[in-house]
Amino acid sequence: MRDSPKTGSARAGIPEYDSVDVSVLVIGAGAAGARAAIELAERGVDDVLVLGKRSHGDAHTTWARGGINGALGTHDPEDSWAIHAADTLNEGHFLNDPGKVQTVTKRMPGLLRELDDWGMAFSRTEDGELDQRFFGAQSFRRTAFAGDHTGESMLNTLVDRAQELSVPYRENVMITTLLADGDRVYGAVGFDADTGDYLLINAGTVVLAAGGYAAIYNRHTSRDDENNGDGPALAYDAGAALMDMEFVQFHPTGMAVDEDDPEWEPWSGRLVTEAVRGEGGHLYNAEGERFMERYSPDQMELDARDVVARAIAQEVAEGRGTENGGVSLDLSHKSRSFIRERLPRMYERFDDLGVDMASEPVEVAPTAHYGMGGVAVDEHGETSVDGLFAIGETMAGVHGANRLGGNSLAETVAFGAVAGERIAQRVDGPGRLPDHVVDDYAKPQLRDLAALAGRDGTHEVSSVFTGLQNLLWEHAGILRDEDSLRAGLRELDTLRDRVSDLDVGPITSDSFEFAVDLGFMLTTAEAVLRGALQRTESRGAHYRTDYPDTDPDWRRNIYYERADVGGMSTHTETVGTPSETVQAALDEGHELDYHQLE
Ligand code: FUM
Repeated sequence: MRDSPKTGSARAGIPEYDSVDVSVLVIGAGAAGARAAIELAERGVDDVLVLGKRSHGDAHTTWARGGINGALGTHDPEDSWAIHAADTLNEGHFLNDPGKVQTVTKRMPGLLRELDDWGMAFSRTEDGELDQRFFGAQSFRRTAFAGDHTGESMLNTLVDRAQELSVPYRENVMITTLLADGDRVYGAVGFDADTGDYLLINAGTVVLAAGGYAAIYNRHTSRDDENNGDGPALAYDAGAALMDMEFVQFHPTGMAVDEDDPEWEPWSGRLVTEAVRGEGGHLYNAEGERFMERYSPDQMELDARDVVARAIAQEVAEGRGTENGGVSLDLSHKSRSFIRERLPRMYERFDDLGVDMASEPVEVAPTAHYGMGGVAVDEHGETSVDGLFAIGETMAGVHGANRLGGNSLAETVAFGAVAGERIAQRVDGPGRLPDHVVDDYAKPQLRDLAALAGRDGTHEVSSVFTGLQNLLWEHAGILRDEDSLRAGLRELDTLRDRVSDLDVGPITSDSFEFAVDLGFMLTTAEAVLRGALQRTESRGAHYRTDYPDTDPDWRRNIYYERADVGGMSTHTETVGTPSETVQAALDEGHELDYHQLE
């Protein structure tokens, strides 16, 4: 990798820029990006650059809490990768790509042992085995964990491993566009948010590991500057197709708080890990009723996330919610020492806010947590644009209409490894950035970025940003219908006009970064609204009040592409069939018996 000083030109409104040449550019420094880079380094590909939007080691992965799935069978030896695959397909309402599901589930036992070998601080049984806890809608205990800070422990482990292998990283860099001519990718343009330097990166292979799009909703489990759709929108703009964007997972238990209280307000929507329910937590409405008995008498609080989230939303809508618009999640029947050992971060967080989980419940309500959709990729994680890969939450296909808790961390390492293997077979030195790509794509983008920095426009970035998040919550939330989705698309046009007239700070300001994010958010928001309107059925996380039933004819994925004449076009394709082994596991009909927990 070579980094040369100020090689660009300041002529014709094009700002000076730094040029970087590298064989493989990895955009995103969370678990998926780190795991891909490790695979490349282990296979001798060292001309790699991993870019993080934040400080090194601080990616959204650190906020993943409850665990990572793999059929180790620590407690339940009858578990197998095929039953894990069957649970994943059931939870995804058979909209998942069965091949990708098989890839993840089959690899996970080995990948968990590998993380253990690399020093990850997994929680263990008394016998020293990797412990596994119950998680929702899984037939057996298969969620390995590190207390309730699994993502943080995992990312620390991956970063340490990458450093041992001398993987080159660069932090606080944001990519604004990929350089692609429709057929293949050649690199990217972006900026360094610390120095304000513009960057032109020449890379023959680009891996997008830049997260998902759940933060386009106003109540969500991400930080405001992550999961704004960067990954999917960058791929879409480069000519790749998106898939399944209408499927957004609402985690049942985000913090429900008094939003007028400045101490609590920042915690609104933040994740209360599913592990609280996995460790035996009960949900009660304001009338003290354990209401899941009415919605799911067998699986209770550990039914699928969409089922529990809709149940909570219904309780609140029908007037049985708590003061802050949620329900109560209670673990006070467990001992303090148990809670502190199994859920240390949750215990500390609520303790700091003056709530003692060992003696009182916490208030929770659904929150946008994960986009099941993303970039359409093949079995190696490669898009239809040659040389462009998408992995982790940026890709689509593994989770279908709803994701099993614990499968997102699994997907990051599984597809990080898969993509790394594939790229290592092909890469042979830095790509060649053709002049026409520099002239037609890179320079106009650099000029646009320079024009955006310090722009004296009419609309405040923060108010348009919040307006877009409110629009998604209101029009494409847990419950959807045609009229509301159509109204949402109309409102989106109004916001689009505002985005073209923003008042923006300098390149190193938050408002500049959020102004760039708004472009990504508009693309992903449009896809969510369009897909949700087109899918005239209810399935998994997508619930249409005007089409409440699942329609077998809709066992199809919606693909979203840029139309030749501008605008977004869609088409649908039928989903594939599972392998014989997975079909056999499906036919066996495994299901969690919640009462094992009580
Ligand atoms: O609730 C949780 O800890 C979330 C886990 C996941 O989404 O995989």
